[in-house]
Amino acid sequence: MSIIIAPSLLSANFLNLEKDIEMLNQSQAKWIHVDVMDGVFVPNISFGFPVLKAVRKATKKYLDVHLMIHHYDNFIDEFKAAGADGLTVHFENSIHLHRTIQAIKKAGMKAGVAMNPHTPVNVISEMIFDLDLVLIMSVNPGFGGQKFIENTISKIAECKQLIEQKKSSALIEVDGGVDLSNCKKIIAAGANVLVAGNAVFGSANPMQTISELKQ
Ligand code: DX5
Ligand code: ZN
Repeated sequence: MSIIIAPSLLSANFLNLEKDIEMLNQSQAKWIHVDVMDGVFVPNISFGFPVLKAVRKATKKYLDVHLMIHHYDNFIDEFKAAGADGLTVHFENSIHLHRTIQAIKKAGMKAGVAMNPHTPVNVISEMIFDLDLVLIMSVNPGFGGQKFIENTISKIAECKQLIEQKKSSALIEVDGGVDLSNCKKIIAAGANVLVAGNAVFGSANPMQTISELKQ
């Protein structure tokens, strides 16, 4: 399977989002990563439904929505209606994760679980078969432009092993501090989807950076 690049809109130019999305539409990025933050689960607030709906109108790409919010169960159908193709919730603030994953699928989206750097991979071993995606955070969630945490590499490998062992078809997505200097080892460890915010939007030629990350 070829590597999926998911540029993170968090690092895009909010004064001219249309232009950045147009660039992504022309690029080799298959997904667009959308970070929703509530200022409670993470120490930052990003954007919500109005922005997501506007983005949906501007692109046909797969919208990969990463929720860093509490009480997400109340909003699953609303995220679908706003245009999300995939919805990923965090393990750390989930009580009835199994129920949530079924609800996301029932709403017609791909379902993912994200885990913070301190969370061991094996906590999802009883769930892995139900998941479409495992999002391994390689920074502490909340902000773009942070430094990649090296320990993530062994977590990716462990997650890949778990997926194979349980015969799951879940994809492994890595989010935070991914750039051209570390993408090779992230992919070698078993990642299928690379999120990149700063590395793409902070580069001189974002389209070329996307294509280089993919290569
Ligand atoms: C951080 C977000 C990331 C962020 C990644 O909480 O989940 O998606 O946008 O940004 P970079 O690639 O700049 O680390
Ligand atoms: Zn994210």
